[in-house]
Amino acid sequence: MSITLTQATGPAFTRIYSYGAARGENAVPNEDLIGPIDSSDEWIRQRTGIVTRVRADHDTDAIDLATVAATEAIEKSGVPADQIDLVIVATISNPKQSPSVSAIVADRVGANPAAAYDVNAACAGYAYAVTQADALIKAGAARYALVIGTEKLSDIVDPADRSISFLLGDGAGAALIGPSDTPGIAPAVWGSDGSKADAVGMNGTLTEFRDGEVPWPTLRQEGPTVFRWAVWEMAKVAREALDKAGVEPTDIAAFIPHQANVRIIDEFAKQLKLPESTVIARDIETTGNTSAASIPLASHRLMAEHPELSGGLALQIGFGAGLVFAAQVVVLP
Ligand SMILES: CC(C)(COP(=O)(O)OP(=O)(O)OC[C@H]1O[C@@H](n2cnc3c(N)ncnc32)[C@H](O)[C@@H]1OP(=O)(O)O)[C@@H](O)C(=O)NCCC(=O)NCCS
Repeated sequence: MSITLTQATGPAFTRIYSYGAARGENAVPNEDLIGPIDSSDEWIRQRTGIVTRVRADHDTDAIDLATVAATEAIEKSGVPADQIDLVIVATISNPKQSPSVSAIVADRVGANPAAAYDVNAACAGYAYAVTQADALIKAGAARYALVIGTEKLSDIVDPADRSISFLLGDGAGAALIGPSDTPGIAPAVWGSDGSKADAVGMNGTLTEFRDGEVPWPTLRQEGPTVFRWAVWEMAKVAREALDKAGVEPTDIAAFIPHQANVRIIDEFAKQLKLPESTVIARDIETTGNTSAASIPLASHRLMAEHPELSGGLALQIGFGAGLVFAAQVVVLP
């Protein structure tokens, strides 16, 4: 006699119900950082679009930021915290390699015993996590998912590094995702290119640090290499995400790319031929690059400043260390 295993099935569609945000407590203007990197306020504004970035207090960590953002997203969603059965946190700045940020945040926000795990996909981490939440809910593995991007990057910067440190900020953004009557998250275009692993990432390991071989490891990048890859390859990925969603650039109400550099954002908009009416996220100007937190933080700000975007389509794309990338079209809550 053969036994047939019961199979889980989920809803046909999912959507984002709400966003939450937490920004580092301190605004850090360019002037505060230019000394050790022999730079200028003008250079940073012109080359990156950043005027000031947010950085967290010494005693605030990525878990604290994630908890604040998650709490807001849960409250706005109307979903009781104890109904959340999946928590995915995208981060590269967990203060400890273990335990995960997600299990602690799940407990702090009242979602214990939700399934909880962290994703390391750097600046694509949030879009990766949205892809997973969507798929897991549709598969019946979870019903309500809390997706968080959280970073305290200021702990892993070298103030004397000219390649990336001045770009980085601290914050967390969260989204509550659940079942929907209509499609709210389109298929993702996601992938990686580990042959370019050295282009951006940490400049040492914990064991090298322990053995006195390197100073405290910090983030570094080959700026122009990453810039060219972003501008050429990521614009194609974004276009592919529109195709996969079955929409045209003219259908896109908001464009929310990873906040890496305003010049990259502007180049994307040009290559994608987005219409004048598309609202483009430029949260980088006052927040800086917050890696996994950048897309949900930018989404949160866009919804606060443009409530009329509610129900409209947004194209989001994350890309960064790995190298990794992910893009998808979503319906804004
Ligand atoms: C880092 C980045 C802002 C540098 O800008 P850039 O225009 O590429 O600058 P370059 O490295 O080509 O350097 C241009 C000039 O500025 C100088 N420069 C570089 N960094 C500088 C800094 N922080 N301050 C002042 N001058 C700087 C260089 O020495 C060079 O001078 P030169 O023309 O006299 O030789 C840019 O490459 C970038 O944003 N890269 C991609 C970031 C990204 O997408 N990351 C994704 C993962 S998070």
